[in-house]
Amino acid sequence: MIKSPRGTRDLLPPDTALWNFVEAAVRDVFRAYNFHEIRTPIFESTELFARGVGEETDIVGKEMFTWEDRWRTLDSGDNLPPGPQFEDIKQHTDAMYDASRKRGQSLTLRPENTAGVVRAYIEHKLWDRGLNKLFYIGPQFRRERPQKGRYRQFYQIGAEIIGPAAAGSQSPARDAEILELLATLLDRVGITNWTLELNSVGCPADRAKFNEALRQALAPVVDKMCADCQRRAVTNPLRVFDCKVPEDQPIIETLPTITQFLGEACSTHYAEVKEILKAVHIPYIENQRLVRGLDYYTRTAFEFTHGALGAQNAILGGGRYDGLSEALGGPPAPGIGFAIGEDRLVLSLMETASAESVMRKPDVYIAPLGAGMNREAARLARELRRHDLAPDLVIELGDESFRLKKSFEAADKMGARYILIVGENEVAANAFALKHLISGEQVTVPRAELTQRILQTK
Ligand code: HAM
Repeated sequence: MIKSPRGTRDLLPPDTALWNFVEAAVRDVFRAYNFHEIRTPIFESTELFARGVGEETDIVGKEMFTWEDRWRTLDSGDNLPPGPQFEDIKQHTDAMYDASRKRGQSLTLRPENTAGVVRAYIEHKLWDRGLNKLFYIGPQFRRERPQKGRYRQFYQIGAEIIGPAAAGSQSPARDAEILELLATLLDRVGITNWTLELNSVGCPADRAKFNEALRQALAPVVDKMCADCQRRAVTNPLRVFDCKVPEDQPIIETLPTITQFLGEACSTHYAEVKEILKAVHIPYIENQRLVRGLDYYTRTAFEFTHGALGAQNAILGGGRYDGLSEALGGPPAPGIGFAIGEDRLVLSLMETASAESVMRKPDVYIAPLGAGMNREAARLARELRRHDLAPDLVIELGDESFRLKKSFEAADKMGARYILIVGENEVAANAFALKHLISGEQVTVPRAELTQRILQTK
């Protein structure tokens, strides 16, 4: 038997009803906050993530699905116009051409969507639009060890606010707006008991000081730590905080925190975010060790956790990334955003709501009875499904080969509200037997009144 690959899964009804419920609710919330949808490709050039998310992160270092696209059509050197100009270019780029001709282009299934959104911002000069408030819903891919709440293909619901500083993109009001939106969104879908953990990871200048302090603090102890930490202590000490090795945790506990190194501008920014949160009554706790596992963060960083999730308890994470656009070769474009793990959101929801309870059941099961009745049933179904008359009716069609008993069983099994019998007599009379499956009440209804009758008891 061919099975779905490790870490991937099929989402089946009735569970998909919960997914749809969540997505419809979040789209409503995004609309209310004036966010608009963006869809970026599911794969991007590997370099985007290496430069955006950071070489030393677990995501880029260990978890990406990367391949070489050997069919890349290259502008080979031979096709360039001859002349001194060409010779000039050729000298500089020969090595590059050779390497890429042999290697093809390295592509990666997106492990997250922020880098892709910022790439699109740069590629389409979205700064012309001022402040961009964008959201996305879609699959992401990370080669992690699968467990409850952790998959290799998982889904994120995310949003980003990005634009020139002159459009207000750097304001602490945007950070607070994002956090307040998230509180509203979780409440709206029925997730209670979340905890918002907040920190500021400062600006690059603060971080340089912090990294230096970390290097010093790590120097005497690092040889007792895991191989990753030993390397990171040299290359990117902040990433030591991502270490999951239990034996390393007591050492990590003793390391300095970024808070001591925040400059005045970052401290003031952080203080204002917290003041607005207090003003709108959004509770939070401060976690000075929260640095997030991606390199692009500056200033505000946050996670929402939920008890029902166990070890993988971060239902969402996000933060500010004021330097990301420049790191990707774009203009200065401060931004802030988040991504919810939709798989985890749905898991938490299942604690309280069953998927069964949000799944729409048929209003009517049409049971054709006897040869030639499929045609009549199809005509009736077409009438009842007319959107202008019955905007929200769910109609299921049986088959003329079923005996009446089998039709009743099928209607019962799918939880239909009514069964509508379509036999020769009914067609001749142009009136049909409509039976309510819970009360057992049965009436004969003229064809023209069927929709009204069904809608009345909805
Ligand atoms: P992240 O913290 O890497 O941030 O992922 C966000 C959320 O995605 C996590 O909190 C978690 O709920 C979910 N998630 C991550 N990996 C998995 C997995 N393997 N299986 C199931 N769920 C998972 C980002 O991705 C950033 N792009 C968020 C962001 C947007 N920051 C600024 N803007």
